[in-house]
Amino acid sequence: MKNFYLTTAIDYANGSPHLGHAYEKILTDVIARAKRLDGYSVHFVTGLDEHGQKVQQGAQKEGILPQDRCDKVAAEFQAMLEKLNVSNDDYIRTTQARHKDVVSSILQNLYEKGEIYQTEYQGFYSTRAEQFLQEKDKVDGVWPEIFGEVTEITESNYFFKLSKYQDWLVDHISQNKDFILPTNRQAQVLEFLKEPLNDLCISRPKERLSWGIPLPFDENFVTYVWFDALVNYYSAVVSEDDDKKNFWPANLHVIGKDILTPPHAVYWPIMLHASDLDIPQSILAHGWWTTSGAKMSKSTGETVNPLSLVDQYGADSFRYFVMREMTVGQDAEFSLDRFQSRYRADLGNDLGNLLSRLLHMTQTYMSGLVPVAELSEAYEQELRDHWEKSRTSMLDHFRAYRFNLGLEEIFSFVRAINKYADNRLPWKLAKSEAPEDLQALQTCLATMLEGLRLVSVAISPVMPTVHTQIHERLSLEPVKLWKDELDWGDRLVGKNVKEKLILFPRD
Ligand code: MSP
Repeated sequence: MKNFYLTTAIDYANGSPHLGHAYEKILTDVIARAKRLDGYSVHFVTGLDEHGQKVQQGAQKEGILPQDRCDKVAAEFQAMLEKLNVSNDDYIRTTQARHKDVVSSILQNLYEKGEIYQTEYQGFYSTRAEQFLQEKDKVDGVWPEIFGEVTEITESNYFFKLSKYQDWLVDHISQNKDFILPTNRQAQVLEFLKEPLNDLCISRPKERLSWGIPLPFDENFVTYVWFDALVNYYSAVVSEDDDKKNFWPANLHVIGKDILTPPHAVYWPIMLHASDLDIPQSILAHGWWTTSGAKMSKSTGETVNPLSLVDQYGADSFRYFVMREMTVGQDAEFSLDRFQSRYRADLGNDLGNLLSRLLHMTQTYMSGLVPVAELSEAYEQELRDHWEKSRTSMLDHFRAYRFNLGLEEIFSFVRAINKYADNRLPWKLAKSEAPEDLQALQTCLATMLEGLRLVSVAISPVMPTVHTQIHERLSLEPVKLWKDELDWGDRLVGKNVKEKLILFPRD
């Protein structure tokens, strides 16, 4: 079986989970589930980025140890993953020994190879903000109040020879069109690489930042941000048993567009290449959700935390909404109105009603037994042709991470099934005594049930619970592989469908 290793960004442990975090984990989960259905052996890792000044300061404010604060935040993020039904195989935390050991050994190796050097750095430093400032931070030629006293200091730090690899990276990106996805972001990275790269400062003196991984070759310093965080992708698979080592190099890193350039598209491949390690196949940069909890409803001006919708409407409705609404790579606006209209129209009216009335009709007219579709007339043929087209295009879209278009395709088929019923009028056929009408009724119900089964198989990566519920009503086990499950067939014939179920109750 072919491996597929994919990751999300690891979230900062300095705040609570929000819509942006939730979206990225759902997106990656949908990819992971679709890959499993496509027959890959998937390893899916997400986690928490726990070091740094903000975490240290946050803990200080609360009067607790940084590790205790991270444990609290990790529990919160993991509860979010569970609530959203994210199927990650591992959760890596950068304070775990398995991660720290790998960071140290990569640093030590690079240091021994001469890729890391120490030098003096001179600049303006604000003690109050605990950061270096640049001339551009001045307002009208003076340092603003918020920085307090600003002094020019000289500090010694360690640097990684990034610039040495600039040409190699430009070549790699130019030759590997699937390295940066969506492809329209490649130009942006190459543009960035037109300017000469500076070497990367990878350390902070311990007296300023103690909450970090010490440099193995100089205990007076800790590793600064990216050299710690990015390595998680690698440490998650190399530090434990041998099996997981086969997952390197990663197939896909899913991240937000804000951390593409330079961290993921520039620092990370160069860090790996300089360490003689293989670099990942692709990086997929998604866009941003705007609003994030501010005014969400245009009509009522209501303010809601988007994540609270998961409790109210269920994880699958939320997963459907974010996947249907956002074009991967572009930004989207989160609005309660849009959420509710998708919930009521696509989920309630189109899919939910189809299921409940179909189960009801099969119970009432066939005592729950799925009949044989004996006829195949123009109506049936049209619906089957529609499915053939939808199936091909939905798979193409899903495999290219265009989930919004894939879902649109599936729901256009859902509407086609409803339209087919409106043409065939099974409720009228059921009133007739004529044998040909009985045959038409049986054909109609069998055709609709098969259509519903295919829809349930197709939506399963996005709505895994709804998939299981629909399949359970049809007396089927949840699908493990897509393979021939997406073929139109007669595997439902003779099965007993169950009582009707309201999937998406009116809100
Ligand atoms: N810790 C770093 C990532 C290190 S990866 C080696 C970080 N953390 S974060 O908590 O700020 O963001 C985590 C992920 O959530 C990032 O990919 C980021 O782009 C994403 N999002 C944060 N806010 C977002 C939105 N409003 N919308 C969509 N995604 C956003 O960056």
